[in-house]
Amino acid sequence: MSLTTARTVTDLRDRLAPWRKAGERIALVPTMGALHQGHLSLVTLAKSKADRVVASIFVNPLQFGPREDFHRYPRDEVGDLAKLEGAGADLVFAPDKAEMYPQGFSTRVNLGDLTEDLCGAARPNHFDGVATVVTKLLLQCAPDLAVFGEKDYQQLLVIKRLVSDLDIPVEIIGGPIVREEDGLALSSRNAYLSPAERATAPLLYQTVFEVAADLSKGRGADDAAHAGRFKLEAAGFRVDYVAVRDPETLKPLSGPVKQARVLAAVHLGRTRLIDNVAVPLPTNR
Ligand code: PAF
Repeated sequence: MSLTTARTVTDLRDRLAPWRKAGERIALVPTMGALHQGHLSLVTLAKSKADRVVASIFVNPLQFGPREDFHRYPRDEVGDLAKLEGAGADLVFAPDKAEMYPQGFSTRVNLGDLTEDLCGAARPNHFDGVATVVTKLLLQCAPDLAVFGEKDYQQLLVIKRLVSDLDIPVEIIGGPIVREEDGLALSSRNAYLSPAERATAPLLYQTVFEVAADLSKGRGADDAAHAGRFKLEAAGFRVDYVAVRDPETLKPLSGPVKQARVLAAVHLGRTRLIDNVAVPLPTNR
């Protein structure tokens, strides 16, 4: 394996310095590991826009609630490094908890409004944890651009907001959702699904897609979202939300809409799944 792994911020910066001196454009792809084709597509996207791609692997304890899956979150660093090397990453930053949050660490990045709704309502403090670790990663690596998946659509907007608010000089790019053949969005958490749950799971995308299709035909936002929730509950999902929102601000929309994002979060057994679709529907799905 020729792919280098930096474990400390000092080592990361030492390795980035010659690239920066040579005027190379650096991209960062932050991850929590347990990599799948969705992550690797972000690396490919990053490579198309930069000379060097750094991927980070860090399962960030700050973004998990006390009753969430931090301890059972899948970890496979050896497999991840092989995948990142295959995808053409140039460097991996894989710090441990003490490097990221040394004794006495106490700062939190809090965005207020944008983080209190949707996933933020079901997962208090989650986005503070995401915003804090992403701010640190951006300051540690100082990339020219950073790529995040659109599957975590609210997270993507939170990161764009914090970068703008804190004047962090980096371009944030969203990568399209990668799906299984049956439509299920790729997620490290899909590994938790039992065979029966895995068979039911694609209904999440089908439903979100149908809500978006209904909106495109002029159905009102509340009505379409309500029908989506009903369909998911009837299929056995526990629904956190099915929502039709402004794609830039995530503010609620009602009545007929031209531009929107349909977002949903559900529980299937012990697994929380999220998905979203743009309105108008993308043409290349
Ligand atoms: O999307 C993720 O995997 C994580 O939330 C991120 C952005 C790497 C921060 O820990």
